[in-house]
Amino acid sequence: MTNPTSQALARVKPSATMAMSAKARALKAEGRDCIALSQGEPDFDTPDNIKEAACRAIAEGKTKYTDVDGIPELKDAICGKFKRENGLEYKRSQVNVSPGGKPVIFNAFMATLNPGDEVVIPTPYWVSYPDMALLCGATPVFAETSIEDGFKLRPEVLAKAITPHTKWLVLNSPSNPSGAAYTADELRALAAVLLDFPHVMVLTDDMYEHLTYGDFEFTTIAQVEPRLYERTLTMNGVSKAYSMTGWRIGYAAGPEWLIKAMSNVMGQTTSNPCSISQWAAVEALNGTQDFIPKNKKLFQDRRDLVVSMLNQAQGIKCPTPEGAFYVYPSIAGLIGKKAPSGKVIDSDETFALELLQSECVALVHGGAFGLSPCFRISYATSNQCLEEACARIQRFCGAVS
Ligand SMILES: Cc1ncc(COP(=O)(O)O)c(C=O)c1O
Repeated sequence: MTNPTSQALARVKPSATMAMSAKARALKAEGRDCIALSQGEPDFDTPDNIKEAACRAIAEGKTKYTDVDGIPELKDAICGKFKRENGLEYKRSQVNVSPGGKPVIFNAFMATLNPGDEVVIPTPYWVSYPDMALLCGATPVFAETSIEDGFKLRPEVLAKAITPHTKWLVLNSPSNPSGAAYTADELRALAAVLLDFPHVMVLTDDMYEHLTYGDFEFTTIAQVEPRLYERTLTMNGVSKAYSMTGWRIGYAAGPEWLIKAMSNVMGQTTSNPCSISQWAAVEALNGTQDFIPKNKKLFQDRRDLVVSMLNQAQGIKCPTPEGAFYVYPSIAGLIGKKAPSGKVIDSDETFALELLQSECVALVHGGAFGLSPCFRISYATSNQCLEEACARIQRFCGAVS
């Protein structure tokens, strides 16, 4: 008998990033010196002031159920953050707190999508967007970008992707996996298209807001085009900026009807996010922000190191991304050539598997993010590891013939 899993589950595929990390762990368990650049999580610890706030919450007995979609104190901290950092005014009733950024998106989709609805997703995309849309019975529609356009969606491509069935456009800036981030002018050009399609809502995933480099200035679409405010869900979280991936707190602000609908989904599924993590997130948002520029500087140095070393590898072209902690180089120059094992590199997946076998470096192939032939490296690891990994990639590419 086949396992009686649901039809909804049959529509989704397991995460390619997690699969690659599992392969790397298996090689490590065999005693091989494997470097995994596949995991998207900061290697820094959560700052002490945030940990202390969590300990205080435990000591003070803040350990019970809370309001389903977040404690008022955290909602106020989130409203304060949006006002201070993004010039956006929200009330408590417009804010949702979920157990991570991932559930924010899922709750929004679950609350709004019906079979036949379409979700426009630019490629390369973060792996979960299409699968979440599919789980909710909707159809992902991919809008391609290119390395020449810095992996950013062009307005005319967006206009073509929209149909009468489109419910959402998902924007993610800075992007996982490409690191690309939109300038205010670029967002304005996309907003101009959206103004012609009032039935389309925008979900902007700003999870990497605090990780942009050089003189790049972060902006978000509801900020640059106030006429989209009523139909934009501005999503963010503490996972990446505050090294709090395990605490599971994500949040979003948007129209009241949507926030209420998302709260209904949570009321019958997860209930509230962890009470202790919520108090820790209050401190993250209201407390000192001192470590953000320090972490940014470290990440920027790593980005520059990786971009420079990859561009010295034969057949690889690596653009310099504006933010996040990923690079997304092209391997077009290696397709059709032979790996050191003799196997022909016919796809980015073959490239990733051959590299893993011969040099023990784990990265994720571009096919998993919907744009090939590329790969994603997460540089959220030590400079020493990055230097060694890039040297191995150079050696591998140098042996390709
Ligand atoms: C673009 C993007 N959005 C959302 C998330 C989810 O964040 P969280 O760990 O808070 O669920 C991630 C995590 O990798 C991400 O890369």
